[in-house]
Amino acid sequence: MSERWTPDSWRNKPVVQVPEYPDAKALADVEAQLATFPPLVFAGEARNLKKALGRVAAGEAFLLQGGDCAESFAEHGANNIRDFFRVFLQMAVVLTYAGSLPVVKVGRIAGQFAKPRSSPVEKANGIELPSYRGDIVNDIAFTAEARTPDPQRQMMAYRQSAATLNLLRAFASGGFANLASVNQWMLGFLKDSPQSRRYTELADRITDALNFMRACGLEFDSHPELRTTDFYTSHEALLLGYEQALTRVDSTTGDWYATSGHMIWIGDRTRQLDHAHVEYFRGINNPIGLKCGPSLKPDELIKLIDVLNPQDEPGRLTLIARFGSDKVGDHLPALIRAVQREGRKVVWSCDPMHGNTITATSGYKTRPFDRILSEVRSFFAIHAAEGTHAGGVHLEMTGKDVTECIGGARALTDEDLNDRYHTVCDPRLNAEQSIDMAFLIAELLKQERAGKIKPLPAASGM
Ligand code: PEP
Ligand code: CO
Repeated sequence: MSERWTPDSWRNKPVVQVPEYPDAKALADVEAQLATFPPLVFAGEARNLKKALGRVAAGEAFLLQGGDCAESFAEHGANNIRDFFRVFLQMAVVLTYAGSLPVVKVGRIAGQFAKPRSSPVEKANGIELPSYRGDIVNDIAFTAEARTPDPQRQMMAYRQSAATLNLLRAFASGGFANLASVNQWMLGFLKDSPQSRRYTELADRITDALNFMRACGLEFDSHPELRTTDFYTSHEALLLGYEQALTRVDSTTGDWYATSGHMIWIGDRTRQLDHAHVEYFRGINNPIGLKCGPSLKPDELIKLIDVLNPQDEPGRLTLIARFGSDKVGDHLPALIRAVQREGRKVVWSCDPMHGNTITATSGYKTRPFDRILSEVRSFFAIHAAEGTHAGGVHLEMTGKDVTECIGGARALTDEDLNDRYHTVCDPRLNAEQSIDMAFLIAELLKQERAGKIKPLPAASGM
């Protein structure tokens, strides 16, 4: 592992979860062309995010990361992006105000296209075809043609990411994110939902506080942090050829950066120490994430930390725990203890989605809201017991009123799933469930700060 790193050194390592492109030359041509395109994000922005995450690692901030499981070419509308951004800002405001902590905002967006699959093939009606691997690779339709990996899709993913990012940048800095509009973000709510009442109350309190500050003479014009927000992008950097093409040297520092997104992460299926993904990630200087699932052993985690963050830079590495509500109690404490024993600085984040997927009787993949919440609660309880900071959450969510996860304040049932089940991959929290989740997490953050988190019920695992 101490060998020289180059953006393509991953090609000499074993790799899993790669599509089989029928035309190697067409793929190489696309990668060569992508390598000439402008970067999507800039090294200085990635460094700012790393600094912000350093504050999370120190217990002084909270990370909110979320978005689609998989972005799709078909759903690339401005309204989708706006609705997502609005719900995300609402969640951030709930967490900042009710949790009294700065919130680092990172979307799973503008690049979240490539999907790892549990099986390389899918069978239906006696036919076997390659699995759908995300719109950047192939099409979800169940035909041989649609499922054949097509390198041109990388061009489309690049251009869609650029357009999405363009709108997000405008929203973040062009007035939409102005805290003085906190009441206007309400427009997205269904009328008279419990969330809308709770949110209005909170928004009114914020408006009062702003008016008070104004009356005290605070000049809002000289405080851009009240009018704009720092919003960052992230995705699973699974398709390494695409990532390599967008890996660039930062002219101010001479360091390598992934410029496909501010933060990228390694999935739970591709974190083998001697494999290609870990090799690629060790050489880039962005803040990175590592998904930690039930098969990850504490000593293996320490070896991965040694390779991925040898300088122990705060904010460089976010460990995203995704065990399942029934397993988190069995696995997370040992990982935290190993990291503490080695004195390593990491951000601990909780992905309560990927360990809690079930197949409903209707046949839909779903996630019960209660289990999602239960994993988050356990995550906070475990950190409280270990004396570490529950640093963040990683959610699959949308700004739309979909019916994909069951439960929540409106008690969606198995029968409701058929109504608006739109995801091309995993089930997401809808707008109301996302706001609900934010209020519940804010409560946990408040308890964490007051030293009042309740311990896990003894050995029940839940
Ligand atoms: C995901 O985040 O969509 C995902 C596939 O997660 P994991 O690698 O944790 O299974
Ligand atoms: Co997913």
